Amino acid sequence: MHDDLNNLNLPRIIDDLATRGWSWQERCLPEALTLQLADECRKRARLGALAPASVGRGGGQAVRENVRSDRIQWLENGEHPACDRYLAVMDALREALNRALFIGLADYECHFAFYPPGAFYSRHLDRFRDDDRRTVSAVFYLNQDWAPEEGGALRLYPDGGEPFDVPPQAGSLALFMSAEMPHEVLPASRDRLSLTGWFRRR
Ligand code: OGA
Ligand code: MN
Repeated sequence: MHDDLNNLNLPRIIDDLATRGWSWQERCLPEALTLQLADECRKRARLGALAPASVGRGGGQAVRENVRSDRIQWLENGEHPACDRYLAVMDALREALNRALFIGLADYECHFAFYPPGAFYSRHLDRFRDDDRRTVSAVFYLNQDWAPEEGGALRLYPDGGEPFDVPPQAGSLALFMSAEMPHEVLPASRDRLSLTGWFRRR
């Protein structure tokens, strides 16, 4: 098992996903790694490497700033040690979820996301109409010293439960079932950085 997985309360993640379809934990990775990932995201934003995110897939794919106004860049292996380390942790988590939940997660895709002040992503599901591979969504946050009044929460709408706001605090990880959990990103008063990804079936 990947050493960095030790920061996660894995039994709780597994139980949360199985019983209510979402999980949230703080301090999920070593602080130094979280800081390196935040630096890399900020650097890419500064260099103009992040592109306006689109919604939909295939012929229906389009940039719609009235739906989402973040900028993203997909991660590839071999670009940066911190990114590679993050991808390795997520792969170990993928295997752990498969062992415990038998959900057959085959791969993981992920992008940096940068929401400038005022940017948002209105309520949606993460599964595409014509592609049902996305199974578990994973959002890891990179924002040091986030204060509640700065906004920017990830608001989850569990079926039959109260909405739950996840603050985008550095080091915290939100996981939820992609096809079942409506959610939105509320606007913030400062830059909001994250690594957003999906465990996919074949
Ligand atoms: C997404 C998304 C949530 C977040 O990119 O699909 O819902 O908190 N992101 O950034
Ligand atoms: Mn989403």
